[in-house]
Amino acid sequence: GQMGGGIAQVAAAAGHDVLLCDARPGAAAAAIEAAERRLMRAAGKAEDAQAAEQAAREALGRMTEAQGGISGLVSADIVIEAVAEDEALKRDLFGQLSAVCRPDAILASNTSSISITRIAAAVSAPERVIGMHFMNPVPVMQLVEVIRGAATSDQTFERTSEVVQSMGKVVVCSKDFPGFIVNRVLMPMINEAFCAMHEGVASAAHID
Ligand SMILES: NC(=O)c1ccc[n+]([C@@H]2O[C@H](COP(=O)([O-])OP(=O)(O)OC[C@H]3O[C@@H](n4cnc5c(N)ncnc54)[C@H](O)[C@@H]3O)[C@@H](O)[C@H]2O)c1
Repeated sequence: GQMGGGIAQVAAAAGHDVLLCDARPGAAAAAIEAAERRLMRAAGKAEDAQAAEQAAREALGRMTEAQGGISGLVSADIVIEAVAEDEALKRDLFGQLSAVCRPDAILASNTSSISITRIAAAVSAPERVIGMHFMNPVPVMQLVEVIRGAATSDQTFERTSEVVQSMGKVVVCSKDFPGFIVNRVLMPMINEAFCAMHEGVASAAHID
């Protein structure tokens, strides 16, 4: 989807081999095509366009659709889940990933609001489950919240932080509280904007 495609692009541009997996037929191929358009447009604007286009082509060569759905992720070092924000869906998926992936594979969720500890309860080794919360649009936004669940190990946290930094992003570490850091701060601000409008402080456009 929106976030998974962006995360896959940024990871591939950073030199990682990326397998894309989506339950919707054609979605992974569409995500690779969308990444191609974004990378080539950015390369065209670069100072050395030829070198940037070559780097973009190499990044695209590292993006592949996983064969056979989730079972195609059997060799992955790290899985970054970005399905819809639905706890039952995520728990079900993590249960399947736990059965398919290597026992030492890190299983990360891009959830904006669901408890990492509760997602990890669906997994056989919950110490390898972690939150990896990218912001939208992923190729543009620098910040990634890394969220430790109750069982997340130091090794999982350190390895995940290294992967985020390898993508050129900035890590902030949050405990597993509702909204983590970013949405906990952002949502009251958005609410306050509506209150200000309701009280007639200013027009919607000026508050925005
Ligand atoms: N959009 C944002 O601004 C934003 C920002 C930060 C975090 N997030 C989080 O990222 C996650 C994804 O959000 P999005 O906006 O990219 O959603 P989206 O609807 O664009 O993408 C979700 C994708 O998941 C696929 N999917 C559903 N069930 C699946 C399954 N069982 N296996 C494999 N694929 C499956 C769908 O086909 C779809 O392509 C959510 O947890 C959301 O809270 C979103």
